[in-house]
Amino acid sequence: MNDEPTRDQTMNDEPTHDEPLVIAIDGPAGAGKSTVGHALADRLGLRYLDTGAMYRAMTFAVQQRGIPEGDLAAVAAAAPSVEIAIEDGVVVVDGVDATAAIRGSEVTEGVSQVAANPAVRELLVRRQRAWVAEHGGGVVEGRDIGSVVFPDAPLKLYITASPRVRAERRVEQVGGDVDEVEASIIRRDRYDASREHSPLTEATDAVVVDTTGMSIDAVVSHIMRELEART
Ligand code: DC
Repeated sequence: MNDEPTRDQTMNDEPTHDEPLVIAIDGPAGAGKSTVGHALADRLGLRYLDTGAMYRAMTFAVQQRGIPEGDLAAVAAAAPSVEIAIEDGVVVVDGVDATAAIRGSEVTEGVSQVAANPAVRELLVRRQRAWVAEHGGGVVEGRDIGSVVFPDAPLKLYITASPRVRAERRVEQVGGDVDEVEASIIRRDRYDASREHSPLTEATDAVVVDTTGMSIDAVVSHIMRELEART
């Protein structure tokens, strides 16, 4: 990914941190990671990286090439040639704008299998670290950011909410039936938490934030206090 460094420059002028500041945000789907993460990035003048979009982009490319998502060797062989560029929420895969397609049901159904492929994880983790090095830090959202990708991040957040609330938020955004969405959220959580490679789990030193019944402002203020206490 080749975003131009812009807002992250302001961070480099901050006297308080010499190291590039990385805020790791993990947690299950629909817990509010993106909303909270974007608000934090704005407050801190940091760039934002949605690593879930990278796994979705890889899944889109695999499907475009007609490779079965579960074919470990074929997916591993294809992955390095997949070009993914994410800029201001626009996701371009092999030169094609896939912003809408990566949120569609076909990709959503296939992404867990692609994300469980160790070769894909190794490749995308490398690209995530390169992105942060290139941008001088950032707010990075995913499932294994605090535990695997940036274990030394000064602030690791594990953002969660009840499956019901997560389903209700998803339905508000994209429609659907709350019961069905809740069932699929529980199914996907179980799969993500039980996979062999980098299962979804909170880093031992993560600040756990349960956003059930909390406003975004309250969540962000709480996190800013945690950050101030650490830097
Ligand atoms: O956050 P999301 O729903 O867009 O993530 C899509 C899928 O990618 C989901 O199955 C979890 C997986 N994922 C992952 O395994 N590791 C990450 N760092 C980010 C997402």
